[in-house]
Amino acid sequence: MFKTEICDILGIEYPIFQGGMAWVSDAKLASSVSEVGALGIIAAGHATPEWLENQILLAKEMTDKPFGVNIMLLSPFVEEIVRLVIKHKVKVVTTGAGNPGKYMQAFAEANIKVIPVVGAVALAKRMESIGAVAVVAEGMESGGHIGELTTMALLPQVVDAVKIPVIAAGGIADGRGFLAALSLGAKGVQIGTRFIVSIECQASENYKQAIIKAKDRDTVVTGLSTGHPVRIIRNKLAREFEKLEKLEASIEEIEKLGSGKLRIAVIDGDVENGSIMAGQISGLVKEIKPVKEIIDDIIKQAKVTLGNLNKLGV
Ligand SMILES: Cc1cc2nc3c(=O)[nH]c(=O)nc-3n(C[C@H](O)[C@H](O)[C@H](O)COP(=O)(O)O)c2cc1C
Repeated sequence: MFKTEICDILGIEYPIFQGGMAWVSDAKLASSVSEVGALGIIAAGHATPEWLENQILLAKEMTDKPFGVNIMLLSPFVEEIVRLVIKHKVKVVTTGAGNPGKYMQAFAEANIKVIPVVGAVALAKRMESIGAVAVVAEGMESGGHIGELTTMALLPQVVDAVKIPVIAAGGIADGRGFLAALSLGAKGVQIGTRFIVSIECQASENYKQAIIKAKDRDTVVTGLSTGHPVRIIRNKLAREFEKLEKLEASIEEIEKLGSGKLRIAVIDGDVENGSIMAGQISGLVKEIKPVKEIIDDIIKQAKVTLGNLNKLGV
């Protein structure tokens, strides 16, 4: 049930991606998700090629199932990371922060499937035209770097604009969200925030608790004036961002404030001075669970929801 064409394309059982999350999604989280039959994704973020190579090798030890690597195209190591992903024949690459056009031929020659993350229809169309096998349409409900449109508005517009499968991201954490995304034409979902609050995720306990404690209105968008907005949970750092933005500080000053702050929250557990990137759906996440239970719950709840809809006679 719920098997879609993205499952056949990638050789996975559930049309669920664990979104690549810098500092958060390492080999352990990604391989745990892949083992259950969904798609785990290691985030390259701005990490060194040595770190990434080690994580790819670890993931290969931990699972025989397909997993992906998310490449931040703004990484200073992007060229080496592309070479590594090709060297280790990683099955799937998702890309964030830009246009992977320059690398598409090399990926195609290595038989690597590329799935860019997009926040607008025009970029989705461009990605289809350069050979992406699918796109992730990510709404601004998401944690981390965001676009302008909501998932609800963006998703059906991208679905209508391209022929390749569209994966929905942003604001999905349970079976109802999963089913809603399929209803809007998605062939799968990408989930970030919910997977942070899993046993297998190596993020600090403080980070997980900050998401559990967050209510519906507890995320804010920082760095809007820089053109690179980021959604985080409200804390001391968020207030410092607000102050700088009110003072109309320069882009450099605002970007400097954000630099290196995700690591502080994820690894060191400093959830006051660090950047707690998480989505608006944080308010729905109440418990740390094993990855398998998170995925089983989503599928179970989607089935119940679908059953309830059928009872309405639709
Ligand atoms: C802590 C964090 C870090 C993230 N880092 C990345 C990243 O490095 N590259 C990327 O393409 N997306 C990144 N994302 C976005 C996720 O992959 C995913 O699309 C998003 O979290 C989905 O929305 P949700 O949080 O509402 O589930 C990040 C999200 C979070 C919460």
